[in-house]
Amino acid sequence: MTMRPLGIDPGQCFIGGRWVPCESGSSLDLLNPSDGSTLCAIARGNALDIDKAVIAAQGALVSDWGRLVNFERGRLLAKIGQLVLEQLETLAELEALDVGKPLKQARADVIALARYMEFYAGAADKIHGATIPYLDGYTVYTLREPHGVTGHIIPWNYPMQIIGRSVGAALAMGNACVLKPAEDACLTALAFAQIADDAGLPAGALNVVPGLGAEAGAALTAHPGVHHISFTGSVGVGKLIQSEAGANVVPVTLELGGKSPQLVFEDADVDSALPFLTNAGIQNAGQTCSASSRILVHRSRFDEVVNGMAAHYRALRAGPAMQDLDVGPLVSHRQKEIVEGFLSKGDDLEIAATGQIIAVAPSGGAYVAPTLFADVAADHTLAQEEIFGPVQVVIPFESEEEAVAIANGTPYGLVASVWSQSGARQMRLAKRLRAGQIFLNNYGAGGGVELPFGGSGLSGHGREKGFEALYGFSTLKTVAALHG
Ligand code: NAI
Ligand code: MG
Repeated sequence: MTMRPLGIDPGQCFIGGRWVPCESGSSLDLLNPSDGSTLCAIARGNALDIDKAVIAAQGALVSDWGRLVNFERGRLLAKIGQLVLEQLETLAELEALDVGKPLKQARADVIALARYMEFYAGAADKIHGATIPYLDGYTVYTLREPHGVTGHIIPWNYPMQIIGRSVGAALAMGNACVLKPAEDACLTALAFAQIADDAGLPAGALNVVPGLGAEAGAALTAHPGVHHISFTGSVGVGKLIQSEAGANVVPVTLELGGKSPQLVFEDADVDSALPFLTNAGIQNAGQTCSASSRILVHRSRFDEVVNGMAAHYRALRAGPAMQDLDVGPLVSHRQKEIVEGFLSKGDDLEIAATGQIIAVAPSGGAYVAPTLFADVAADHTLAQEEIFGPVQVVIPFESEEEAVAIANGTPYGLVASVWSQSGARQMRLAKRLRAGQIFLNNYGAGGGVELPFGGSGLSGHGREKGFEALYGFSTLKTVAALHG
């Protein structure tokens, strides 16, 4: 595939509706993690490019983009969604090459991106204020308004899905966006900018500045012209962004990953659970914020679950993204080193099973064999810290009380699932588990764009996805008229 697909220029920024060279004049190499080759060079944007992008966004708010009414913005989003679907294969291939994810996952991400555009297209003209009964002689009402310029700093694991949920909702509310994609994977972000432009999105409504986190990302966070920051990524950078944005009193939405558990009780339908237990850990090679990296199992079903998962693991094959196997490489050699560092901390543990890296996988690829650890103590490092690789631990418990204590016993709180036939237990645990999404007898619910998503604790705060996101990407104004 040409590295100039869809008319994008990966070596440039997209600012004010045009491809423009970055101010630094320097570039970064984008890696293909399936074989270690260099895909292309991308722009190394810096504070000057971010400044230009913010000025372009400010301009859009007071010109064509700002003048559109809600249903017109909705129509544009619908058109973007349609063009995304028309480029399904091209976008999927770009993502597979850039991130290393198997083609079927990349295709699912393209479809999710289109679904976000469709969902927020339909929602754009359905959000409204309220009238509030008040003192005699007054009429009071509220207006839902865009923040203005919104900053979007996204990671490399699901670029298209995260663009869909954050940029999609922000545009629906009438904000103008500056997007800083991850230096490890940014081709689909650039392609999306071109597709949005092709659909007729007015210049400046969406600007994309690739570059390093410490340069372009930090400049976007600190820019006084930005009114809201949405960030998905590591806890460390999330903390930094919250404090930097705090200096300008700018609200942030933080989605920082987790250590999400699945709880398998003595009355669970284990056969139904097994595919979910494994897939939720190895999807996207475990590089998923809502990956289920802890499997908590009642002692009476422990061997059955471990044996069933081990059989799945032994059948897993890892290899190049374009071969579309169960697992691809990790996104980079750096990420592989992080995961191998965790694996070495499991030297004292029993490995229940591993998957295979196929023999013909290129030696320059960033492959890690999926690894399942059994009978792990709840306070072990591998049961406490986010690994972000194809690694799961199985932890036994004796009682519901103990299961809840273990599930809630990390600093995270993103998602959790309960496998049990008891309706009463499902309801009880849905309340007691600390997480932003709870799944009963499933995991992930197919990722629905309609479902509000976000965490508590170190998993972050604020909600994206669903209608709820529109509140986060807007502000409320109260108007009180005294007319006698
Ligand atoms: P990261 O948090 O460094 O990168 C995410 C985004 O933040 C990228 O666009 C990056 O350029 C930007 N960024 C980095 N430093 C910044 C700064 N000072 N100011 C503003 N923006 C900045 O994540 P990284 O290093 O790629 O991955 C490390 C670990 O983070 C992973 O092992 C995983 O545990 C976690 N992570 C979690 C994700 C999630 O979905 N919640 C996604 C990616 C990583
Ligand atoms: Mg980083």
